[in-house]
Amino acid sequence: MEEMGLHPLWRLRREKAIEPPGEPVAMGWEEMKSAIESCTACSLHKGRNRTVVGAGCERADWLFIGEAPGAEEDLRGEPFVGQAGVLLDNMLASIGLSREKNVYIANTVKCRPPGNRNPEPSEMAACRPFLSRQIELVGPRLIVLLGRIAAQSILGSDASISSLRGKVHACGNIPAVVTYHPAYLLRNPMDKSKAWEDLCFARKIMNGL
Ligand code: URA
Ligand code: SF4
Repeated sequence: MEEMGLHPLWRLRREKAIEPPGEPVAMGWEEMKSAIESCTACSLHKGRNRTVVGAGCERADWLFIGEAPGAEEDLRGEPFVGQAGVLLDNMLASIGLSREKNVYIANTVKCRPPGNRNPEPSEMAACRPFLSRQIELVGPRLIVLLGRIAAQSILGSDASISSLRGKVHACGNIPAVVTYHPAYLLRNPMDKSKAWEDLCFARKIMNGL
């Protein structure tokens, strides 16, 4: 039981004789995916059908981070495949992006919260090492945070979406911008024009990087 106490994201390097034994090494994609599939680090594992790791290009300049899998995502094992996903894909296309070409999409938690409630800060904290490793593996130049829950959790802020929009924040050393969550926009279509401004802002920041 030498791995006890390590988050499932880490394993002990022992297969390569040249490495000192016992040194934790960060996981690659495949190991991380199976660590997520068997993860029980927070109570969200109890209600999940599938884990939702992420989707898109595993090396990408753009990383979009949503909140949590919903019902359809939980059944399909893919993020943003419901109604909000259709809108997200349209938002991406409006600035020349797509999950097939140049974007990776992830969520703050990889398992669906019961009844689609917001993920708790403790659940996002438990899942954060996976997201942090995804960010390292994807290597984005710009991160777009979708909605208040993701933005507040990742930026460690309790500010409102309206005060976080239109500014360049930092996620580690990677610039990050904030916009509305597509599910919110489906309920509040009046704010779509503001989301469009945010996407143009993100495009401008990326072009200037
Ligand atoms: N909403 C999210 O935040 N993420 C998804 O994957 C789907 C809906
Ligand atoms: Fe593990 Fe994240 Fe699922 Fe919680 S949400 S059980 S931390 S993979």
